[in-house]
Amino acid sequence: MTPTLKVSGIHKAFGAVVVANDVNFTISKGECIGVIGPNGAGKSSLFSLIAGSLRQDAGEIWLNGENLSNVPAHKRVKAGIGRAFQIPQPFAGLSVYENVLSAGAAGAGFRGSELIDWTCSVLDRTGLRDKADTLAGALTLLDRKNLEVAKAVATNAHLLMLDEIGAGLTDGEVARLVEQIAELKQDHAIIWIEHIAHALKRVANRIIVLNFGELVADGPPDDVMASPIVREIYMGLKVDDAD
Ligand SMILES: Nc1ncnc2c1ncn2[C@@H]1O[C@H](COP(=O)(O)OP(=O)(O)OP(=O)(O)O)[C@@H](O)[C@H]1O
Ligand SMILES: [Mg+2]
Repeated sequence: MTPTLKVSGIHKAFGAVVVANDVNFTISKGECIGVIGPNGAGKSSLFSLIAGSLRQDAGEIWLNGENLSNVPAHKRVKAGIGRAFQIPQPFAGLSVYENVLSAGAAGAGFRGSELIDWTCSVLDRTGLRDKADTLAGALTLLDRKNLEVAKAVATNAHLLMLDEIGAGLTDGEVARLVEQIAELKQDHAIIWIEHIAHALKRVANRIIVLNFGELVADGPPDDVMASPIVREIYMGLKVDDAD
């Protein structure tokens, strides 16, 4: 079966800083991959490479069997790549409804009553229906992060890339987020960059670990979290000392 996303041999460097070093993985609908790694490891850069706002030095990005490696970012949105940014970027002076509507029009190409129905369904799926009339600039942190996810869903994405949307939330809020991602996973392939390990473990099918742009682990959450390489990266333990 053709995967939703195939990242093949992606390489990118800014001068001496390598942010992606021959990165390879695939993901399909119904799957959630958690991405972890230290600050500056290249996690957000990987999203930019997949989204097309950064261009790779080598390697290929495939979506649903289509080679998008040289396709500009706005066309990748239309092809089905949705991204929730690490720092939410709503139109602060527009309502939640208007923000989601804009994403549905620009990203998914819906118009008229179809666009209105689509917008309402996205607001329902992301728990924002009762905030529809609130100005985006007046939202709480949780709802701003929700809106960031809703805008990505509204583009009718096949692939959702979520960048640290749990950061700064309370335990209860993170639990709600995990439930929501579990629901969205039924219709999407999801890549979630997050530092909150217990949240990732509850919803991710796999975890990949980036370190200096290199994918150093890819496997089931429990195995990856217990692996010597993760203990070495996060706790400074040498692989030999890890047990
Ligand atoms: N446009 C750019 N030009 C030069 N260097 C960059 C650029 N974008 C990112 N970098 C550098 O690439 C490295 C990876 O950055 P990136 O934002 O991908 O890390 P990250 O894993 O998302 O980190 P964090 O956990 O802090 O969000 C960092 O050293 C960063 O300073
Ligand atoms: Mg980042």
